[in-house]
Amino acid sequence: MPVNSAQPPGAAGLTQRPRVLSGVQPTGALHLGNWLGAIRNWVDLQSSHDTFFCVVDLHAITVPHEPAQLAEDTLTTAALYLACGIDPQRSTVFVQSHVSAHSELCWLLNCVTPLNWLERMIQFKEKAVKQGSDVSAGLLDYPVLMAADILLYDADRVPVGEDQKQHLELARDIAQQRINSRFGPKGSDGERIPILKVPEPLILREGARVMSLTDGRSKMSKSDPNEGSRITLLDPPELISRKIKRAKTDPQMGLEFGNPERPEADNLLALYALLAGRSREAAAAECAAMGWGTFKPLLAEAAVAALAPLQERYSELRSDPLYLAEVLRQGRERASSVADATLARVRHALGFLSRS
Ligand code: ADP
Ligand code: TRP
Repeated sequence: MPVNSAQPPGAAGLTQRPRVLSGVQPTGALHLGNWLGAIRNWVDLQSSHDTFFCVVDLHAITVPHEPAQLAEDTLTTAALYLACGIDPQRSTVFVQSHVSAHSELCWLLNCVTPLNWLERMIQFKEKAVKQGSDVSAGLLDYPVLMAADILLYDADRVPVGEDQKQHLELARDIAQQRINSRFGPKGSDGERIPILKVPEPLILREGARVMSLTDGRSKMSKSDPNEGSRITLLDPPELISRKIKRAKTDPQMGLEFGNPERPEADNLLALYALLAGRSREAAAAECAAMGWGTFKPLLAEAAVAALAPLQERYSELRSDPLYLAEVLRQGRERASSVADATLARVRHALGFLSRS
């Protein structure tokens, strides 16, 4: 496979485009929710934005992790980005820990972020309960590291799902209230000149919240201990069929949207529409009178067909480790050049002695 020799997007005349940054944690194979709710949208953004996508491995160790698994999951996640259609010629694809500015800016931001801003983060409270007595300081600090990820790249927009909006709000508050308004140098008019760009959330297209196969009221998630609750992008066809066969149903005939008593029908019908490339109206009309026994094989077939090309690209990518390593090396270079400049700006504003 040819390795991308294109210029960095910033140097290739794309600087006027609004910049986007996003990332997913390498904590196991991505599932249909990650794909349909996040990565599919990133792919579309590549034509209109200057896109940075990282594999956030430093975030992955905020809960207990298996060292033998981390590097493997990082490669899997990066390869899945590419297999889903992230194009390294158009996007900067990199591993968070390869760019040391993330950890460094995180520390600087830590020292200006009030502890009580972190203690009220919903995701922290939820994850802390799950961890019991062994909660790391890193878990509390997770949103500050995420703020560093975003702010280092002067991102204009950050595509996030509902669950991450509070973290993005925190990144905005840190940039505006704790860095710009305290440390921005004063211009001739007495106003402070901003040091960090304050990012906006990018609300993703609706209808892409994928729910668990075993409970239509909770989100499909990598962290659900029941593997039958999710379809990963790497599940082989038989496993996909088996998981869909066992998916929770209800006693009613016919699939429909929007019945609050039937979250599973709503979820599986939405999945069918997305995977089969049908409009919601067309899918609803097609399946309105179908029993579950007819519908499930149809859904399984659509899922297998939608994932087949992606799985094929994934195996090609994994069989060429040099290519993937080169993509990540180039990504690291491009990302570092942007991130290091931002870090230098913040270091200077905070009064650190220059390194050069
Ligand atoms: P998980 O909850 O499975 O660990 P992450 O928190 O790593 O997933 O999420 C990575 C990205 O995928 C985020 O942008 C998130 O909003 C999106 N995402 C995760 N689960 C779903 C889902 N079930 N439906 C839609 N989007 C999802
Ligand atoms: N916290 C995000 C999630 O769980 C992952 C993430 C880390 C991220 N850093 C980011 C997302 C920066 C967007 C931008 O989904």
